[in-house]
Amino acid sequence: MCLLLKAARFYRRRPAYYNLWMSTPNTPQDRLKRAAARAAIDHLQPGEVVGVGSGSTVNFFIEELGARRDQFPTAVSSSSGSTERLRAQGINVLDLNEVIASGRRIPVYVDGADEINASLQMVKGGGGALTREKIVAAASERFVCIVDRSKWVDCLGRFPLPVEVIPMAVELVSVRLRLIGGVPTVREGKVTDNGNLILDVAGLSITHPDSLEAEINQWAGVVTVGLFARQPASVALVATPEGVEERRAAGAAPATR
Ligand code: 5RP
Repeated sequence: MCLLLKAARFYRRRPAYYNLWMSTPNTPQDRLKRAAARAAIDHLQPGEVVGVGSGSTVNFFIEELGARRDQFPTAVSSSSGSTERLRAQGINVLDLNEVIASGRRIPVYVDGADEINASLQMVKGGGGALTREKIVAAASERFVCIVDRSKWVDCLGRFPLPVEVIPMAVELVSVRLRLIGGVPTVREGKVTDNGNLILDVAGLSITHPDSLEAEINQWAGVVTVGLFARQPASVALVATPEGVEERRAAGAAPATR
């Protein structure tokens, strides 16, 4: 019992290096994810609120942030999972409404992607957090996308497109998705942080991501489509075994959105 109490006390007060050690990358892909996550630190502005996405790559980023929490003490989070991890790292998670109402900036949002193309348009939502991710991304000045090279694609759509839907509209939205050539499946056992369901849509070859995003987004019952095309990333940090490449959309002005 005494041992258990001691362990619990240690866990509560654990230093940042303990978390890093606990999740030491053990696969080549994990090493790439951590490399991309670490590279994102150079894009942040110390003292400012950091926008934080969700997913396994972002989990590495949260650990990197935790190791530098004196420089980056505050964040806005895109999911309950990320919030929990940020708090475990001693980072203060702020409410987005309060940040905006107080006039504070969120200069940078850091998130992963399921797919990203040369225009830095993305498919996101593999973890089901797409709606809050889009909200925090929209509230931020720049989007830094952190991925390993497996996420880089010529054409979006190989990864089934996630769509968050109000439960009563699942069949209605599925019918519409079939009409545009998609094969929707309800993600089993998943209820989003907003109490909704996710449809994963296979079979779409997404040649015009911006118009498809606009089209699906305006259907009754759709909360968010996991296409991030109308507001693409500002920069992609793509981890390869040779190093992390900083890629910008062709013709994009450097460091602006
Ligand atoms: C979660 C997301 C993630 O960014 C996306 O699924 C990539 O995740 P991972 O880094 O685990 O590959 O959109 O909703």
